[in-house]
Amino acid sequence: MAVFRLDFTTRRQHTVDVMSPYTGDFWKRGETLGEHLERRGIDRREFLAWCARMAVLMGLGPMVTEGAESSAGNALAAKLEALKRPVVIWLQLQECTGCLESTLRSYSTGIGDLVLNLVSMQYVELLMAAAGQQANEALEDASSQEHILLINGSIPLGANGAYCTIGGESAEVVLRKAAAKAEYILAVGACAYYGCVQAARPNPTGATGVQEILTDRPVINVPGCPPIGEVITGCITYLLTQGHAPPCDIEGRPLFAYGSRIHDNCPRRAFYDAGQFVGQFDDAAARQGYCLYHVGCKGPDTFAACPVVKWNGGTSFPIQSGHPCIGCTEKHFFDRMTPFYSTLPTVPGVGVEATANEIGAVALGAALLGVSAHAAGSAIGLRRERMKEDAVVSLPVLGEGGGKKPEDGGDKKPK
Ligand code: SF4
Ligand code: F3S
Repeated sequence: MAVFRLDFTTRRQHTVDVMSPYTGDFWKRGETLGEHLERRGIDRREFLAWCARMAVLMGLGPMVTEGAESSAGNALAAKLEALKRPVVIWLQLQECTGCLESTLRSYSTGIGDLVLNLVSMQYVELLMAAAGQQANEALEDASSQEHILLINGSIPLGANGAYCTIGGESAEVVLRKAAAKAEYILAVGACAYYGCVQAARPNPTGATGVQEILTDRPVINVPGCPPIGEVITGCITYLLTQGHAPPCDIEGRPLFAYGSRIHDNCPRRAFYDAGQFVGQFDDAAARQGYCLYHVGCKGPDTFAACPVVKWNGGTSFPIQSGHPCIGCTEKHFFDRMTPFYSTLPTVPGVGVEATANEIGAVALGAALLGVSAHAAGSAIGLRRERMKEDAVVSLPVLGEGGGKKPEDGGDKKPK
């Protein structure tokens, strides 16, 4: 269950328990996280294991076997333990709450929960009991301090912002005020990234992404519909422990999570390369776990960590469970990637795989411009090598429009 406890102690004796196993105690101002964990009796081994996994996700070190010593994980743990409680605001604008729900349900360990708990949300509408004037005051209080700002949801500019107002102010005004003193700004979810389904043609509310509003500020985009909870946590942890934003691609997406294509890490990739495709969702090829390209998979044009990090505590992800990727981390996917169950000539890379590799290589190459030397020498470097390999792999070339879909799936040799 969600582990949040809102703390407005600077303004009033008003705390809110939200079904947390840690509700007996809260991270105090001035206390380090290490002191806090110790006071709560958190198992240090579990904490180090969590840090080791997070270090891998963030591209800070290599994977180690379960229980083995991870120098990158230990370094991350040392930084987290020295951390003093930061101020975090989580705004929810024109959205469905799916992103925060995804985050709350992501963790298999108490430590994972705790990392979100540790950031001590000063303002998060989904979870706080405060309402009305109290909520407004909490937001003002947090906004007046240096803070990390996370935003879910788009900003509707139509009708002078009337489609989404909070406390009588438009989403745009709320966002600008909350961003004024923000040290880092994270646009979390496809809505905050570019507007998502609300921004799909004809975009009746004038839905817009955060980076279109805060044009004079760097915005870290964490897209997905919703994003993977661990990726959101990874971004927050990176900021808190590294003291700077993670290397990002040209769309502002952290490379550690959005630096490689779904297609390049997909467990069904061997079937793609062998020309073995699902033709219909219930055919024999589907039961064999063949490639979903012909039933609309957009994995060749989608950059995300889904095959590696997975969902629900690492259980599975859409393609693994038999559904094509619909490209939910890509900008304008509701316009570009629909109909979802068709191969589309309008989507670069889908239909002619050689183009997909070119698109991927171009996107990755551009993304690498912003990569630090450290990252380039580690995980990103490996990804670049992988992209070079792909470029010489013999791949099936399909006709315009993605080629003719096999009637019944099965083995279809590349033409
Ligand atoms: Fe995987 Fe989709 Fe690529 Fe097939 S097309 S290998 S299912 S990502
Ligand atoms: Fe989204 Fe594709 Fe992952 S649809 S959840 S990016 S597999």
